[in-house]
Amino acid sequence: MIPENAGPAAVIVLAAGAGTRMKSRTPKILHEIGGLSLVGHALRAARSINPQRLAIVVRHERDLVARHVSALDPDAVIVDQDDVPGTGRAVEAALEALHAEQGLAGTVVVTYGDVPLLSGELLGELVATHERDGNAVTVLTAVLDDATGYGRILRGEDGSVTGIREHKDSSEAERLIREVNSGIYAFDAAVLRDALGKVTTDNAQGEKYLTDVLSLARAAGGRVAAVVTADRWQVEGANDRVQLAALGAELNRRTVEGWMRAGVTVVDPATTWIDASVTLDEDVRLLPNTQLHGATTVARDAVVGPDTTLTDVTVGEGATVVRTHGSGSVIGPRAAVGPFTYLRPGTVLGEKGKIGAFYETKNVTIGRGSKLSHLGYAGDAEIGEDTNIGCGNITANYDGEKKHRTVIGSGVRTGSNTVFVAPVTVGDGAYSGAGAVIRKDVPAGALALSVAAQRNAEGWVPANRPGTRSAELAQAATQNSSSTPASTEEGK
Ligand code: UD1
Ligand code: CA
Repeated sequence: MIPENAGPAAVIVLAAGAGTRMKSRTPKILHEIGGLSLVGHALRAARSINPQRLAIVVRHERDLVARHVSALDPDAVIVDQDDVPGTGRAVEAALEALHAEQGLAGTVVVTYGDVPLLSGELLGELVATHERDGNAVTVLTAVLDDATGYGRILRGEDGSVTGIREHKDSSEAERLIREVNSGIYAFDAAVLRDALGKVTTDNAQGEKYLTDVLSLARAAGGRVAAVVTADRWQVEGANDRVQLAALGAELNRRTVEGWMRAGVTVVDPATTWIDASVTLDEDVRLLPNTQLHGATTVARDAVVGPDTTLTDVTVGEGATVVRTHGSGSVIGPRAAVGPFTYLRPGTVLGEKGKIGAFYETKNVTIGRGSKLSHLGYAGDAEIGEDTNIGCGNITANYDGEKKHRTVIGSGVRTGSNTVFVAPVTVGDGAYSGAGAVIRKDVPAGALALSVAAQRNAEGWVPANRPGTRSAELAQAATQNSSSTPASTEEGK
């Protein structure tokens, strides 16, 4: 049964190539831009036109690529290409696999796994033109200043597309043609199957060229046409790391521009990097050097940056996040984080809470209005509401073998440099003195002190460190202070 709103019969994504110019141990199509692999972008565009089936042709690093694809798109049919090289052979293999499964008729779209900026919109336009005009083949083309390396689009006197000539097989005159084959097409399934049966490897590269299908389809009486795009980025492949970076920058430029048009203030688009998977509300403000990755979301009126990197972080309405490196965390509405703060996974900061300068947090829930303002570490802990954690407090959560929890109530005030030796619990409204080492539970309302009384060994420094600068200054100070009372009296 074909659903009403069905797209083309199939999309075939070609991804068998080795991508040697990347010079990488990682398969080319697994390299990422905008937080998603190249093939991830290709699959997204393919899925967005709602094909009845989606096949991907693999060969180089087959298992690695197949595992990655199946994780992103479990319904994708993985097709193996044999020893015969060429895009034509790749498509033939996919057709065999899809046809063997349940027959194949209608429109078949071919795209590449390494063309990440192709949009579902343009792909949809290609299919719509193809089907509206009843074409046998419709190829997506672009006009480039430098067409070197690409297959050239051959057109007849009347302007109709007659075929594609690969760069290596082309004449001097054909090399002057600047309209190029993107490698993205819509085909009629039956025409494609028949034509591929006739394609040979008789060419400069000894490959089965998919491009030969165009002239064969035309010879068989089919209509062959082109959709020319003015947006060259959408058909550009990433063949080396220079192109990868250029495509990444362009994708980011488009993403950032999209968010600005949707009502987000981006002070410096050039240094703001936003993954395709991030979502932002209206009136969010992003300050320079901000990177937002993964499933990060930022709610209305929040200000993020400068110099902040967030991965999978939820930022609440009106929160501020300054010079922070965070992942897997939740920042509540109107909460404040930073500067110089390291939020590790499992940090949950409540409404109007604060995690201040030089704090590291991990796996900690902090209640509404509670503040951890300066210098410390909070891990495996739960902190109630309106609690103030003093400067330099630390949860000693690790005994060398296991992690333990610290539970601190609401309305607690802890002195500077308090250490919580977990597992330990501090009741509501309790206080701790400066330097307290909390080894035992503190009941609600108690003041916890663990320091021994201070003892001053008078004259220790001059006696034990004679001749040092400290000893000299100590002696001078002692003499001054013994004469001070008199002079103070005089002054009065
Ligand atoms: C191909 C086109 C060319 C077009 C260019 C656009 C052919 C014969 N030529 O050339 O007209 O201008 O793309 O980039 O189609 N692949 C396989 N199996 C193979 C060979 C390739 O799956 O046996 C895949 C690759 O992984 C890649 C895509 O097909 O994603 C294109 O392969 P590539 O070798 O880059 O083709 P080009 O020679 O550049
Ligand atoms: Ca290529």
